[in-house]
Amino acid sequence: MRVKIIGSAAGGGFPQWNCNYRLSRAARAGMPGVHSRTQSSIAASADGKGWVLFNASPDIRQQIAQAPELQPAADAPLRSTPIRAVVLTNADVDHVAGLLSLRERQPFAIYASAQVLATLEANSIFNVLDPSIVPRRLLAPMEEVAIRGADGHPTGVVVGSFPVPGKVALYLEQGGDPGADFSSDTGDTIGVRISGADGRGAVFYVPGCARIDAALRMRLADAACLLFDGTVYTDDEMITARVGQKTGARMGHIAMSGEAGSIAGLADVKIGRRIFIHINNTNPVLDENSAEHAAVKAAGWEVAADGMEMEF
Ligand code: MLT
Ligand code: MN
Repeated sequence: MRVKIIGSAAGGGFPQWNCNYRLSRAARAGMPGVHSRTQSSIAASADGKGWVLFNASPDIRQQIAQAPELQPAADAPLRSTPIRAVVLTNADVDHVAGLLSLRERQPFAIYASAQVLATLEANSIFNVLDPSIVPRRLLAPMEEVAIRGADGHPTGVVVGSFPVPGKVALYLEQGGDPGADFSSDTGDTIGVRISGADGRGAVFYVPGCARIDAALRMRLADAACLLFDGTVYTDDEMITARVGQKTGARMGHIAMSGEAGSIAGLADVKIGRRIFIHINNTNPVLDENSAEHAAVKAAGWEVAADGMEMEF
């Protein structure tokens, strides 16, 4: 199984188009140790030929341009793609908007939870992907699903999905009730376990997660590799950076640091390799020379960068 991180930033990317915070400025200036990143997506392949994308980010065109393995092969038909399927972990803009760039009547399959499929259904713009050409399939929770292309051929990639604490996409929130529970685990956000047909060497991809509970810790215990929500380093980071009013918790994202953070919450779980992904443009770990980056590394974590590849 090959896994390639094609987009390691959170929604907005890094630098974000309208962001003038010091980190986005440093990325634009080409400061050593501060690398630009595209929005949230990974790709997996069991045979090195057919690929399954996990999330379709608004940057997908650039991501394909930067990954030869996701481009049409030299000897392939005039219109073709090695992308056989796209699995969605929620309906956030940074995870579904890229579907619109995959139009042109090109067959592939979409897999998502019932909630996310309902959101695609309710937004007619997604009909640019004609369901008779791009089938939409249910990723039933807690089941191991063999991912198949539009033609029904198995890709060799098997995905198990499970609800994680999170919330609905921002544009689906109703009323903005500050007292609402933004870390419910009803399936608006899922985590996925990615493996080959033999089920071994599982990679877990959980780009959004509001809280670490006993169920999640148990589930992650056989992970060869975990790619986990690294949106913010501290819960109030966007407020102290003076770029927004929301905490990480309000956005459905657990912080890396602190007693209730992910580093502490997963410290005693046996995981082969742990990597933060979906990193927001306010997160100080984006600067490789920061104390926060050093702290994360010292705790045994890596910080994802675009183009990172793994083989299991
Ligand atoms: C998130 O991860 O919380 C969302 O991508 C935020 C957004 O929609 O901008
Ligand atoms: Mn996001």
